[in-house]
Amino acid sequence: MNIIHISAECYPVAKVGGLADVVGALPKYQNSLSNRSQVIMPFYDNKFTQENSFSSVYQGELFLGNTPYQFKVLVLDQKPLDFDVFFIDVPELLFKDYVYSWDDTERFLAFQIAALDWLLTWDIKPSIIHCHDHHTGLIPFMLQESYKYEVFRKTPNILTIHNAQYQGWFSHDKVGLIPPFNFDHVGLLDWGGNINPLAAAIKCAWWITTVSPSYMEELKQAANGLEDLLKNEADKCSGILNGIDWKVWNPETDHYIVKNYSVATVDEGAQANKKYLCDTFNLDFNKPLFAFIGRLVDEKGSDLFPEVFKIALEKNNLTILLLGSGVPFVQSQLEALKKDFVGTYNAFIGYDEKLSHIIYSGADFLLMPSRVEPCGLNQMYALRYGTIPIVRSIGGLKDTVTDIKEQDGFGICHDDVSVEAINHAIFRAIDIYGDQKKYKQIRSKIMEIDHSWDVSANQYINLYNSIKTN
Ligand code: ADP
Ligand code: GLC
Repeated sequence: MNIIHISAECYPVAKVGGLADVVGALPKYQNSLSNRSQVIMPFYDNKFTQENSFSSVYQGELFLGNTPYQFKVLVLDQKPLDFDVFFIDVPELLFKDYVYSWDDTERFLAFQIAALDWLLTWDIKPSIIHCHDHHTGLIPFMLQESYKYEVFRKTPNILTIHNAQYQGWFSHDKVGLIPPFNFDHVGLLDWGGNINPLAAAIKCAWWITTVSPSYMEELKQAANGLEDLLKNEADKCSGILNGIDWKVWNPETDHYIVKNYSVATVDEGAQANKKYLCDTFNLDFNKPLFAFIGRLVDEKGSDLFPEVFKIALEKNNLTILLLGSGVPFVQSQLEALKKDFVGTYNAFIGYDEKLSHIIYSGADFLLMPSRVEPCGLNQMYALRYGTIPIVRSIGGLKDTVTDIKEQDGFGICHDDVSVEAINHAIFRAIDIYGDQKKYKQIRSKIMEIDHSWDVSANQYINLYNSIKTN
């Protein structure tokens, strides 16, 4: 099958969060199942594009309303990835040193139009077009409604919702930027009086998936205004749990970590990584190390961290290390806490891929008190590296972590997002850590849980096949 993924992010080219990890892994696994899975993404000005060279395979002109923009489709000269990536270069709009910005409406509309204009020139059309999040949400609408793309009316398309909080809406004043379509159908673009790309995709795509089954059910109750729409379209909606890239996230071969290890050598290996973290961040090696990695936004529950950490560090024998960036007020509170807990708390405010890998391997517990978590990859990375996840039971966290109190349980789960609930979960973790035999048993067990993409990549293929024949 000829699969085309269209996405704003793809690891290792450009990553803001888990979307990149998914689009950087799923095509690999689909290819290993005898498909041809390829990615179309924007060409940004970043480290990856600066360090690689590219050649142009197509040059065109797209229109946003009456304004023409030149664009190119680029490919990598070397082939460092396990699948083909096509880069849409619209120099005037997309080529910036960031992925998202204030003018995303024009940027991502240009990206989507350029991608489709280019696909029009292909002799053999894709078997399936797989869009990701609102940045590509107008594609299902354009495929169905724009005169220009009539040839694609029978090409199945799906859109995966990685996060429904972000919908990309903009004012109807800009409707003229979208390539001409039958204006009687303009309502398909609308939700709540604005043009809403995610809503348009839910209406027009042949199928909608979320990145975990629980998240799909939760969205029907609360989806930032889209819950009724999702209920109406429930017949073409399902959840497929993300996997993780077993090759990239492998403690036996990971180049980023200080010492590689397997289940048999985790004791020694994880300790070496913990030692590195404790030396680097001045933390007491003999205490259990709790970590957080992620965006410091309300969805992740990170606004509660300053208070949670203060109480936990005052009351308990533990250390805490945080890696993340986001809301400036939370960042400065987390920075300020450092001076009160020298030797037991530290934070790196910023983004650091290498450090994240070392933390997954060296920490004893990973905190994820998310208010919303469509899937969450961090808990699966933590499991693979032998770090016990402490999660709020929501979305993908609920689908991947079972509390230690349950049969076959291995993690710590809490229902509420509150300072008390998180601290109680930390307290339970310290208790487990106190019983080293039990702690080590859990650690070995979680490293063997298989969350690789093998299963889910197949589920997507089955889904593509089923919508094709319907
Ligand atoms: P989300 O996409 O909502 O941010 P996910 O759990 O799906 O959450 O994925 C987050 C990804 O981004 C993981 O690969 C995680 O390791 C990575 N990540 C998040 N913040 C940072 C950071 N500050 N430094 C390094 N990696 C980070
Ligand atoms: C989004 C979600 C996250 C998910 C990721 C990859 O960023 O917030 O939960 O894991 O997409 O699907």
